[in-house]
Amino acid sequence: FIDPEFSRQVIGWQQQHGRHALPWQNTRDAYRIWLSEIMLQQTQVAAVIPYYQRFLQRCPDVSALAEAPSEHVMALWSGLGYYTRARNLHKCAQRIVAEYGGVFPDDPALLAELPGIGRSTAAAIAAFSSGSRAAILDGNVKRVFARVFGIDGYPGAKPVEDLLWQRAEALLPAHGIEAYTQGLMDLGATLCTRSKPVCADCPLAARCVALATQRVHELPQRKPK
Ligand code: ADE
Repeated sequence: FIDPEFSRQVIGWQQQHGRHALPWQNTRDAYRIWLSEIMLQQTQVAAVIPYYQRFLQRCPDVSALAEAPSEHVMALWSGLGYYTRARNLHKCAQRIVAEYGGVFPDDPALLAELPGIGRSTAAAIAAFSSGSRAAILDGNVKRVFARVFGIDGYPGAKPVEDLLWQRAEALLPAHGIEAYTQGLMDLGATLCTRSKPVCADCPLAARCVALATQRVHELPQRKPK
């Protein structure tokens, strides 16, 4: 069902309390947004920032990255971990040049076919770079939804994940996808954290099923052993 109040609350909170000055914000350059989203997949914001800035100095655009030697790319990534990301990043840059003339597509479905870009990352890139109305669902957002809607089960299990995607799609705002997407990420990273949630400051507290039923620390449920 349609619930415009949810996105209004997230957007209002993001505008007042969310993050607005991260190095990959305030740009519509899909290359910069893509690079940040790949780095942020498995690494925290504070650790990403210096790598992100150094990477952009050495590879300022997608053609520079596509043409760089692999050793150069790996050296720039060295220390961030999960090195498959760097190999996919390089391959993806080469495909953007070869298949799209160096211009990232706006369509999240096309982005999701590229190496290293899953459904949620594709949606984030498309939302931030072209305002495309697409749903994200990373680990932080799964936690927010599991708590607010009281969704039981391990969010990595297919039926639970399908339900979460349905919610994510149904809750999208008609306008303001950038602030909404950033707001969900910021809520998950700064308030609705796994072990120290700050429910007192949460714009969704009044409607949070987990809070009302004292299940905040039980949700989302862990992977069954
Ligand atoms: N984590 C993933 N994407 C992010 C973004 N755009 N800003 C902050 N944290 C993030």
